[in-house]
Amino acid sequence: MINALRGMKDIIFEEGDKYLYFTQNCARIAANYGFSYISTPILEETALFKRSVGESSDIVGKEMYQFTDKGGNDVCLRPEGTAGIVRSFIQNKFDKAGGVKRFFYYGPMFRYERPQKGRLRQFHQFGVESFGVSDVKEDAAVILMLSEMLSFFGIKSVLKLNSLGCSKCMPSYRARLVRFLNDNDGLCEDCLRRKILNPIRVFDCKNEHCQILLKGAPILLNELCDECEDEFKRLRAILTNFNIDYEIDPKLVRGLDYYSKTAFEFVSTEIGAQSSVAGGGRYDRLVEFLGGRSAPAVGFAIGIERLLELIKMPSPQKCGVYIGILDERFFDFALKIAVELRRKIKVYTDYEAKNPAKILKNADRLGAKQCILIGENEVKSGTVRIKNLEEKIEFEIDLDLLGEFQW
Ligand code: HAM
Repeated sequence: MINALRGMKDIIFEEGDKYLYFTQNCARIAANYGFSYISTPILEETALFKRSVGESSDIVGKEMYQFTDKGGNDVCLRPEGTAGIVRSFIQNKFDKAGGVKRFFYYGPMFRYERPQKGRLRQFHQFGVESFGVSDVKEDAAVILMLSEMLSFFGIKSVLKLNSLGCSKCMPSYRARLVRFLNDNDGLCEDCLRRKILNPIRVFDCKNEHCQILLKGAPILLNELCDECEDEFKRLRAILTNFNIDYEIDPKLVRGLDYYSKTAFEFVSTEIGAQSSVAGGGRYDRLVEFLGGRSAPAVGFAIGIERLLELIKMPSPQKCGVYIGILDERFFDFALKIAVELRRKIKVYTDYEAKNPAKILKNADRLGAKQCILIGENEVKSGTVRIKNLEEKIEFEIDLDLLGEFQW
């Protein structure tokens, strides 16, 4: 027997219903915020992720599904959605056109991590990316949207917030941090690598010794330039105005290298160790870094699998109509009605003839709201009886008028 690969799973049955319910409602909310749908390829050039997600990240350093395709190209299954969307933004010349572009997306991402609860090698994200607004009001808008999405599904979580500074304040802070790291022996192998490639990523280290050592490290939030300081203050004021609770987390550096200024994560206490349900932030330098004309940007992604177990579906309402046949001779006749009605409502059909009691039982079990029985009389008279299974009433209607019936 061939099983799915380790760390990869089917989304099936109840989870499948939840996945659709989740993505459809997130899409609706994102559309209400003025975002439009984008789908980019799952496979991209490896260089795209190396340059955006960054060489110092665990994702690029250890977790890429990277291979050479039959044409000899170095390609990679996308570990996240932002890089591909920035690539598309530039390729479609939206950077040159100027103005504001807002996108939402969902689909599979791939990271070769050690699988455990809440951590898969193929997982799904719902994300948004907004281009062209440098004002912190847009950061607030995407956080508000994310918060609305999570509360729509009844998910309780805590917003962690940080500012990663800009090209004015980050370099001097980085130099101070590197001095601190040089003065303190005992960093793990990974952190020694991070120190060279992107020193702030040492704060993401899970190694106990590094964590202790970093307790005395300088904090970027204390060294922001006036502009970053002011923007961070304004962001917090908007969130407070909209009753969005947050915790400042000066060590929240995110696992990807492209961020500057706002960085945030929503963390849940209900799902175990892999507690980050969504993360995002501002990445004003990435468009230019990938070869486009500079454009400010901000976005987030939600990890769908981490939320599925927390989502409660609304209790199912009876809906649709079940068309049963009393004899197999009437199948074609019933199917014709079904095809017609399916343009408007959900229709269950039966391939085999059954007695009326069995038909009504099936209709009830499947959750149909109405039931129609097709027998000799119906075919001859051209009228059918609609049985409303919810209100336990029934009435006769001309077949020609079925399409106009208010189901
Ligand atoms: P990220 O923090 O790497 O950000 O991922 C976002 C979310 O995806 C995480 O909070 C988590 O819920 C989920 N996730 C990540 N890895 C796994 C995994 N192995 N298994 C299950 N779920 C996982 C990004 O990907 C950025 N592109 C977000 C962003 C968009 N920033 C700006 N725009």
